[in-house]
Amino acid sequence: MRTQVVIVGAGPSGLLLGQLLSRQGIDNVILERKSADYVLSRIRAGVLEQGTVDLLHEAGVGARLAEEGLPHDGFSLAFEGRLQRVDLKGLTSKQVTVYGQTEVTQDLMEARQAAGTTTFYEAENVQLHDFDGASPRLSFTFEGKRREIACDFIAGCDGFHGICRASVPSGAIETFERVYPFGWLGLLVDQPPAAHELVYASSPFGFALCSMRSQTRSRYYVQVPLDEKVEAWSDARFFDELRRRVPEEVAAAVIPGPSLEKSIAPLRSFVAEPLRFGRLFLVGDAGHIVPPTGAKGLNLAASDVRYLFEALREHYAERSDAGLDAYSARAVARVWKAVRFSWSMTNLLHLFPEASPFDQRIRRAEFDYLAQSQAALTSVAENYVGLPY
Ligand code: FAD
Ligand code: DHB
Repeated sequence: MRTQVVIVGAGPSGLLLGQLLSRQGIDNVILERKSADYVLSRIRAGVLEQGTVDLLHEAGVGARLAEEGLPHDGFSLAFEGRLQRVDLKGLTSKQVTVYGQTEVTQDLMEARQAAGTTTFYEAENVQLHDFDGASPRLSFTFEGKRREIACDFIAGCDGFHGICRASVPSGAIETFERVYPFGWLGLLVDQPPAAHELVYASSPFGFALCSMRSQTRSRYYVQVPLDEKVEAWSDARFFDELRRRVPEEVAAAVIPGPSLEKSIAPLRSFVAEPLRFGRLFLVGDAGHIVPPTGAKGLNLAASDVRYLFEALREHYAERSDAGLDAYSARAVARVWKAVRFSWSMTNLLHLFPEASPFDQRIRRAEFDYLAQSQAALTSVAENYVGLPY
């Protein structure tokens, strides 16, 4: 079997890249380890930057997003019970759109299926070969048989624990990492959201986030220790803890209900450099991770996809490799700014087990500064809506 681009991973990065390539007439095949249902059952991000929304429209999958996505003009930060609105629209003239990653993935899967483009779900033991030369190949097991596929390029869209980055010879990629001493316990519930905009709250008991998926479905998170088990959290315990961490007026509006999903995600900052080795390109979580506090993970995956898609289009349509050669540097420059923003929001809003009274005063001073300075709020707002590509 032969194709132009093999994409490893059918998360949002892989599916979006595949969709954009297919629309340009560039052949691609996706190899995904899990089943389509499993991929769709993962509840993750919820906030899309305008650049991500634009790219989804460009990929021809914007119809349901335009219909069901919720445009948000702002969000609130809460610190020790005080609320500070960040007026995204007023400060930057831009908005964000609340639309779940699950919905993005579903729209992309449906478009791919309608176009009849090949995807191998439940492709086991994917291995990469000869990607430092001109003729890369991949082998994988599908329906019990070992298969091989040759290609021009490999897009490593297989997430943080994938095989692509791990296949690069050690020493060829430098990595930078910070692991945070806590995770987020998330809960999805079919009840109207507690507030009409997102609330990111810091409290003496730890961080909490009130988010949503629609007018009737809410997504909530609370910071928990790294060794915490989901089983230890009944729905009642979750809602009690959430209410204790958000300002009174928000707590009063939280409507509990049976959880549709509950899971814990660890928090990590991670960047691999460069994002290219030979004919292998790393995209999205395969190349970098941010803690979810800035809502940047999915949006960075989309900006990587835009850079790589344009580079591959140039390669095939214009016979120029300038974009491919520039891919890593362009993507990494944008990634680091989001890494910095997500790290600073994480530091501001979370309770660190080792924090001293001095650290706590610094966090309070930072919040006071935000509350008094249009310049400081503008900086938060322009990062939150997404820096230019
Ligand atoms: P992924 O979505 O991880 O997709 C990678 C795909 O590759 C998966 O389908 C996987 O099964 C497949 N794969 C892996 N290994 C192989 C292999 N060897 N062979 C074939 N296929 C393979 N971001 C936010 O902004 N807000 C959030 O609340 C948020 N919550 C998150 C919670 C969790 C638990 C995680 C892990 C991430 C979260 N993120 C969040 C980040 C955001 O979801 C990611 O940035 C986004 O999913 C990145 O998309 P991706 O396609 O690059 O990677
Ligand atoms: C959601 C997740 C985030 O990490 C975030 O910053 C905002 C919203 C969400 O899942 O809704």
